[in-house]
Amino acid sequence: MSEEKGVTRRSLLLTFGIALNGIIAAAIAMPVIGYLLSPIKKKAAYNQWITLGSLNQFPEGETRLANFVNPFKRPQDGETAKTPCWVRRVSADKFQVFAINCAHLGCPVRWFPQSALFMCPCHGGVYYADGERASGPPERGMFQYDYKVVGGELHINAGLMPTLAELKRKSPCLG
Ligand code: FES
Repeated sequence: MSEEKGVTRRSLLLTFGIALNGIIAAAIAMPVIGYLLSPIKKKAAYNQWITLGSLNQFPEGETRLANFVNPFKRPQDGETAKTPCWVRRVSADKFQVFAINCAHLGCPVRWFPQSALFMCPCHGGVYYADGERASGPPERGMFQYDYKVVGGELHINAGLMPTLAELKRKSPCLG
């Protein structure tokens, strides 16, 4: 009778031990699996094409301000999730979509159609209409989003910040 009880207690402890080990193994494995899968998840998350609206909003030869919602927004972001960008329609199907941020230290640049220049209010950076650097502290032209036209709408890859790091990732030869 007592041996039966002992066997029962032993098997109960064994089962408890196995279950505890299983929980600990899962707790250790989950972050490791998450880390191993992160490149796949990141790639999917960064590839976020977002519409800026109908092509009719962007007359040929003009540069207009457009807004989109940051694909990585969180509930607490509120209005700040709205991200502006400058859209230049070069011809019927050729566009340039510029990040609003100056290539120097990131201040929002403004478009002045009278002078056909983008100007940065912070340190006087100036860019030509095609986004190339004209003068001031920025060392390069404005950053641009990848775009495509789908069903009469302009889409940009808003998941990827058009920064130097992203340009280098696409073209490692940039150093
Ligand atoms: S942030 Fe634009 S010139 Fe410095």
